[in-house]
Amino acid sequence: MSFVTARQIAVSYGDALILERVSLEVQKGAFVTIVGASGCGKSTFLRILLGQEQPSSGHVEIDGHPMAPEPDPERGVVFQKYSVFPHLTVLQNLMLPFELEGSAFLGRVFGARKREARDKAQAMMETIGLAHAAKRFPAQLSGGMQQRLAIGQALLKRPKIMLLDEPFGALDPGTRKDMQALLLELWRETGMTVFMVTHDIQEAFELGTRLLVFDKVRHDPQYPNAYGATVTYDLPLDHGERKKTAAIEAALIQSQTDKA
Ligand SMILES: Nc1ncnc2c1ncn2[C@@H]1O[C@H](COP(=O)(O)OP(=O)(O)O)[C@@H](O)[C@H]1O
Ligand SMILES: [Mg+2]
Repeated sequence: MSFVTARQIAVSYGDALILERVSLEVQKGAFVTIVGASGCGKSTFLRILLGQEQPSSGHVEIDGHPMAPEPDPERGVVFQKYSVFPHLTVLQNLMLPFELEGSAFLGRVFGARKREARDKAQAMMETIGLAHAAKRFPAQLSGGMQQRLAIGQALLKRPKIMLLDEPFGALDPGTRKDMQALLLELWRETGMTVFMVTHDIQEAFELGTRLLVFDKVRHDPQYPNAYGATVTYDLPLDHGERKKTAAIEAALIQSQTDKA
C-alpha cells in the first residue's frame, strides 16, 4: 500500500492557480526528489505535505489516514535557510524538541527526562559530526555545520517523513557532497520517506529513488495564472543503474538551461 497518497491536489492563491491535478502514490522509504522552474509550486507542495497549509481541493493521506491538519512530529522539515535558533547553542538546539514536548507552557524539562533529552541530543551530535561544537552558537558555525544541525534537529523526533526544501542550495560544492552523503546514510539507517526539492538536477538524480518534475502543461499567454503546475515527469531511479536515465537527465538539464 502506498504510504503517502496525494489525491487531485489543487492550490490557488486568489485567482492564481498554482498547482492542479497533483496525484501521487509514494511507497514507504522512498527518496523522492522534486525539480521544477522557480515559482511553479514546489515549496507549496511541501507545505501541504507538512500540514502547514491546506490544498484548495484534493487531499493527502498518510499510511491510509487523512493527514492531520497541522504539522506533527511524524514529519520533519529542513529549509534552505537555517531553521535553527540563533540564541541557543548546538546542544540546546538539539534538546529543544524534547523541551517543547516536555512542557507546552514552561518550555523546560527536568530530572530523568532532562537527562534522557541530553543523551539523545548527545547521540545526535555524534551522528551529525558536531560533538566538538556542542557549546557553539549557530553564528559560530559554517553553513554546512548549521545545516547539519538543522537536519539533526529535524531527525530527533524520528519523523517518518522528512521534507527538505533546497536544503543544500546555499552550500559550496564540497560541503554539499558531504551533506548528500550524510543525508543518504541517515535515510538508509532510519527508513524514513524523504521528499526533497532541489534546483540541482544532478543532485536530484543522484539522491532520489524517484524523481518528480513539476511543470505547467497548459499555458495561456493572455492569462498566465489560469493554469497550475502538475507532475509532468515521474521517473523511477535506481541508485545502481544510473546509465539508463543518463539520456533523460541530459535532456532535463538541457531544457532547464533553455528556460534560464
Ligand atoms: N501564501 C501565498 N500567497 C500568495 N501567493 C503565494 C503564497 N505562497 C506562494 N505563493 C505563490 O505561489 C507560487 C508558487 O510558489 P512556491 O511554491 O514557493 O514555488 P517554488 O517553490 O516552486 O519556487 C509563486 O508564484 C508564489 O509567489
Ligand atoms: Mg521554493
